[in-house]
Amino acid sequence: MVDLAIIIPTFNERENIRPLLASLDAVLGDLEYEVIFVDDDSTDGTAALIRELSLTNLRVRVLQRIGRRGLASACVEGMLSTAAPCIAVMDADLQHDESILPEMLAKLCSEPLDLVVATRNAAGGSMGEFSALRIRLSDIGKRLSNGICHCSLSDPMSGFFILDRRFLEEVVHLLSGIGFKILLDLVASSRRPVRIAEVPYRFRERVHGESKLDTLVGIEYLQLLLDKKFGDFAPPQFFLFSMVGGAGALVHLSVLFVLLKLDQQSFLVSQTIATYIAMTMNFFLNNMVTYRDRRLRGAAALIWGLLSFYLACSIGAFINIRVANFIWNGGVSWYLAGAVGVVVSSVWNYAVTAMLTWRRARRNLTARPRPAPLPTGSDLSSAR
Ligand code: GDD
Ligand code: MN
Repeated sequence: MVDLAIIIPTFNERENIRPLLASLDAVLGDLEYEVIFVDDDSTDGTAALIRELSLTNLRVRVLQRIGRRGLASACVEGMLSTAAPCIAVMDADLQHDESILPEMLAKLCSEPLDLVVATRNAAGGSMGEFSALRIRLSDIGKRLSNGICHCSLSDPMSGFFILDRRFLEEVVHLLSGIGFKILLDLVASSRRPVRIAEVPYRFRERVHGESKLDTLVGIEYLQLLLDKKFGDFAPPQFFLFSMVGGAGALVHLSVLFVLLKLDQQSFLVSQTIATYIAMTMNFFLNNMVTYRDRRLRGAAALIWGLLSFYLACSIGAFINIRVANFIWNGGVSWYLAGAVGVVVSSVWNYAVTAMLTWRRARRNLTARPRPAPLPTGSDLSSAR
C-alpha cells in the first residue's frame, strides 16, 4: 500500500529529475511512496525523460498537461491523481531539502494535524542565498497573505508541505488554483482553523535550469488574494480590469491637464485626445495583465482588439452618462449619481470586452509537430 505520494510540478527541469529521484530514494528508503510529476508540456523533454524512467521505476509517473500553465493548478491535479493518505508537494529543482520529508511525515502521522509545512522562516530554517530583493518581496507577500489566511504560518509562501488527504478533500472544491501559491490557497480555502505544524529547513540554491518566477507571478498572487477575498462576489479579472480602469482615469486627467493648461488646446480637442490615449493604454494593460492567458498578439489581432475595445468602451461611456444623468435628475447627489454611472459602465465594459475583445480562442492543435506514429500490430509481431 502506498503511504506517501510526492507531487512535483515541473516546467523545464530535465536536468533535475534524476538527481531528485536519487535523493528521494536515499532519504525515503523502504517507505511505500510514489512520485507524481505534473509537467506543463516542457520544451526540454522533461516529460519524455520521466516517462522513460517510469518504465523501470514503478514509483514514478508523469501527468503531462497540454496548453496549460500554472504551478498551483498542476499541484491540485497531481494531488487528485493519487489515493495515498499523505500527500507531499515539493519543487523539482532541488531547492527544497528532501531530507526533512521523513520528519514531516512522522509529525503528520503521529499528531492530529491537517498539514505540515517546511518553513524557511523559523529557527533552524533559512532563505539560503535568496537575494535581498526576493526576501523583501517575500515579506510583502507574507504580510498581504494575513488578510486571507487566519492562521500563523511563518512561511505562507512555501511550496513544500505534506497534507492529510482528508483535508485536501475538504477544501478541494473551494480552491482558486491561480498562480504559484498553492499552500496559501489550501489554507485560505478552509472553512475551519487548519491544524498546522512546521519543520524548518534551509532553502538551497538552484543548480540546473532557471526560476520561473517573474512579474506575472506577482500579478497572479494579487489575483489569488482578490479571488479568496471577494471571489463570491465577482471574478478576479473584474478587479484587475477595474484597477486598470482607475489607472486609465489618472492618465486621462493628466493628459487633459497638459493639453488644456500647458498647450492651450480647446476643451473638446483635449478631452477627445485624452480619452483615446487613456483607452489605448487601458487596452494594452488589460492585454498584458488581466487577459495575459489569452493575450492578443500580432498586428491584425491587436488592431481588431483595439477597435472592439474602443467600441465597447464608447458605448460604456454613453451608458455611464445616461444612467448618471437619469439618477441625478431623480434628485440623488452628484457624487453618488456619478459613481453609479462609473460602476454600471465598468461592468458593461468588463462584460463586453471579455466576450468581444478577449474571447477565448479556439486551440490550434495543428501548430505542434506530430509525434512519430505508434507501432502497428504487424510491427510488433515481427519484432517478437
Ligand atoms: N507544472 C508546472 N507549471 N510547474 C511549474 C510551473 C508551471 O507553470 N512554473 C513553475 N513550475 C515548477 C518548476 O519547474 C519547479 O519545479 C517549481 O514549480 C518551482 O518553480 P521555481 O521557478 O523554481 O520557483 P521558485 O524557486 O522561484 O519558488 C518556489 O519555491 C518557493 C519556496 O518554497 C515556489 O514553490 C514558490 O511558490 C515558493 O515560495
Ligand atoms: Mn526554485
